[in-house]
This record gives sequence, C-alpha cells and structure tokens, in this order.
Amino acid sequence: MNDANSKDANPAAADKAEFEGRNNNRSRTPTSEEFLAFIGGQWNDPAPSAGAVALEPNLREAAKFAAERRAKVAQRFAGHLVVIAAGALKTRSNDTEYRYRPHSAFAHLTGWGSATQPDSVLVIDAREAGVQGDESHRQATCTLFFRPSVGHGTKEFFANPTIGEFWVGHRPNLEQISDLLGINTRDIADFETFISGADNVIDLGFEEVLEFVSELRLVKDEFEIAEMRKAVAASVKGFENVVRALPTAAGHARGERIVETAFFSAARVHGNDLGYDTIAAAGPNACILHWEVNNGPANRGDLILVDAGVELDSLYTADVTRTLPISGTYSEAQREVYNVVLEAADAVFAVAKPGIKFRELHATAMAVIAKHTAAWGLLPISAEESMQPDKQFHRRFMVHGTSHHLGLDVHDCSQARREMSLDGELKPGMIFTIEPGLYFHPNDQLAPDRFQGIGIRIEDDVLVTETGVENLTAALPRKIEDIEKWMLSLQG
Ligand code: GLY
Ligand code: MN
Ligand code: MN
Repeated sequence: MNDANSKDANPAAADKAEFEGRNNNRSRTPTSEEFLAFIGGQWNDPAPSAGAVALEPNLREAAKFAAERRAKVAQRFAGHLVVIAAGALKTRSNDTEYRYRPHSAFAHLTGWGSATQPDSVLVIDAREAGVQGDESHRQATCTLFFRPSVGHGTKEFFANPTIGEFWVGHRPNLEQISDLLGINTRDIADFETFISGADNVIDLGFEEVLEFVSELRLVKDEFEIAEMRKAVAASVKGFENVVRALPTAAGHARGERIVETAFFSAARVHGNDLGYDTIAAAGPNACILHWEVNNGPANRGDLILVDAGVELDSLYTADVTRTLPISGTYSEAQREVYNVVLEAADAVFAVAKPGIKFRELHATAMAVIAKHTAAWGLLPISAEESMQPDKQFHRRFMVHGTSHHLGLDVHDCSQARREMSLDGELKPGMIFTIEPGLYFHPNDQLAPDRFQGIGIRIEDDVLVTETGVENLTAALPRKIEDIEKWMLSLQG
C-alpha cells in the first residue's frame, strides 16, 4: 500500500522513496497526462459531514472553552507570537505510522482532538496585545494552519498514501474547521513564509511556554469535567468486558492478552483509543509495576491487576485500576493485602479537599502502608520512624506515587512547576488519581510466604469539589464483597 508518485504533495517523502529504490515491488499509478485527466474527473464532492470532521461530534462546544484558554495564553505572553505545533505522524517501521495523536497543548488550545490533521500549527499572535491589564488579550489574533482538503483532480488525492484522501479518507477544508472551531484558518503551505517574517516568536521549546500551558490544565473547566465523566463511563464498560472475559482467560496460556483485548475493544468502540498501554498482570506479574507485555496465563486462584483507561475522541482519558480474583472470589491472604490497600485509598479520600497540599495525599497513603507493613513485621524500624523522609522503608513494598493529575494526558500537567503541582494546594476542578498499592514480589525474601506473588493496586479518578472529592470511578466497585457480587452479576 505505498505509492511514491506524489512529489508535489510530499516532495521529501517522494524523493526519498524514489531514491531508495526502490519500491520496485510496489505498484505505481501511471503518470501519463491521459491517466491524470481520467482519474481526476467525474467525482462528486464529499458530504460536509464526511470523515474526519464527523469524528468529533462536540467540536463547537470544545471550541468555546478553547477560545478562553487561548485568551489566557495571549495575556500571559503579550508581546509575543506563540506557536503551538500539533506534531507530525510518527513512523512505526518503514512506511507504516502510529495512529496520529496531536500534542495535548494543541488539543487543549484548539479543541481539536482525534481528527486533528498531522502537522497542524496554532498561532496565537499577541504581539500587538498591549499591557493594559485584563483586556490586553482581546487584541491577539489566532490562526490555525493545517493541510486542507484538496480537489479530486490532484495527484495528492489519489497518489499520496500518507495524506491523499483516496488513501486516508476525507480531510476538512479551511471553512469547515474555521466554522467548527471558531478560529481563522490558513493552509499550512503558507506557514513557512508566515513564520519566517515574524518576530518575537516563542513555542513549546521555551520552558515558560511549556510550563504555562501545562499549568493551564491543572484546574479543569466544565467541558473537561464532562469529558472526564464520559472517559470514565467508557472505561467502566471496558472493565465490564474484562470481567466477562475472565472465564475464557482463566487457564488460557495467554490469559492476560484476552483481558487486555477485552478492554481494548471498549476503548475503540466507545472512545478513540487507550489513554496508555493496558497493564493486565496476573498472579506475580502484578508485582511488576508497568507489566505491559501481558503474555502470561491467568490462573484461577490468582488475582489479575488491570490498569487501563479509555481515551475519548476529545483525547481526555481515564486511568483506573482494579485487582480482581480470576476465579471470582478472593483468598484469605489476598483479602488481607487488599483491605490494607483499600484502607490506604480510603484514608486519602478522607483528607482530600481544597486547601491541602497535593503531596499530603501520598503522605496519607504512606502512613497506612507504613503502619501495616510494620505490624506484619516487615520493617526493621517502627512505622513512625519509617515515615521520616530519609527512611521510608515501607516504600520497598510500594515504590510508586499515590496520585497524579489526569486529563488530556494520563500523567497530566507534568511540566507544571513543582510549587504548582506537588507542592501546590488542591483546588476545586482538579482531577487526579488515588492509587495506592502493595506488591510482594515472588523473589522478595522479606515478603511473608502467604503474600508472595500478590500485587494489588486500587486506582480511582477523583474530582475536587468545594468540600472534598467526588469519586468519578464510583461505578466500579472497590470493596471485596461488592467486587465479588459485581463479577457474579456480569458472569451470570
Ligand atoms: N496507568 C499509569 C498510572 O497509573 O499512573
Ligand atoms: Mn495512574
Ligand atoms: Mn493507572
């Protein structure tokens, strides 16, 4: 499925392909004038709702919020022209690419998500914006450069496998996107000339820009909160698929893959994709924190830790973990560990409210983990001593953090300054995870025999309210009795 005739649309790629040989074993479309005239004629125009535009049903709604976010960028960087690039397609191998996903800052500031055209660029021109306080941003001009649809009579249309609409489907035109996103649009072909004549240009390569657009996402707006609820709802469907697949997975040599793909079907049917690669870790694999190989068996009697999240077309993602008994029933030892992790999570839920420091979330979970690992006799020091910053011996059994922001990225706002994130305070509208765990690696000589090979994490997504947090993932049971009942009801 490759053809290298598209020099005018993608000259570099076409030259490279020609130079390399070398696609001699691939068919090429004829280049004669007669053929070009024949293939270029007698086509109907696509319906305006076709393809890429139709993929994202709530673009207009997203656009209203994106305009407010752009105004904040313009205000912060008055006097500058800010360039936010969506990014290019990434090669997987040879002439195949990964599914395209724009930079999260681009999606946030345009509202354009999964249907973003590769190589698009947003320009927020705040050079004329004065410094007259809050109104200054009104003078900024925003322009979205992208590669618009081309006519059927072009070689690009039929001969360019990377971007030609005959190959990849309909692309929107400048008017459609301008109308949907409420922003001026221009052909990306004009961008080089435009930017080479511009002064005071800054982009995501500038630390201040990267920090600011990351911090802009710390408190979610109404649109983002609604999208997060939908991402969670789609992920709940994914976990229901997982539970239904467990009887098939049990005893299968690649039971973990059966679980992984059961979740994936929900991601593609109800959303755009996964927000990150699924962890489907059965038995001792659950002690490997980022076990994404998922090629192990799922044995009855073991647990399976499933950490997965659906990303919507708007690109907002959930991040959820449940640790389920493959047989449907937890053993005594599994219950003992599970209930400690649940206690740690519940302790975090109890303290989380506006005004507390983000880092207190982790400290709260750690106090519970320290208390129980000490009581089990696993620490050479007391729980209190272990809580000292330079001790933290209990971390042997939970080396990861307890919470991270969540939104367009699974680890959202990761470029925010420390004083705004880890050392910052919770504010209404923030969305983050609560995800304590305990992991007794099978090779860990300190792990009690009855716990060896047990790894448990419980991960919920929460929204900070005026008085505390709302558990967005409450539809997925967390308590042992509730999980067992839920599994029974789905497996019938
Ligand atoms: N799924 C990655 C995490 O929980 O942070
Ligand atoms: Mn997480
Ligand atoms: Mn996770």
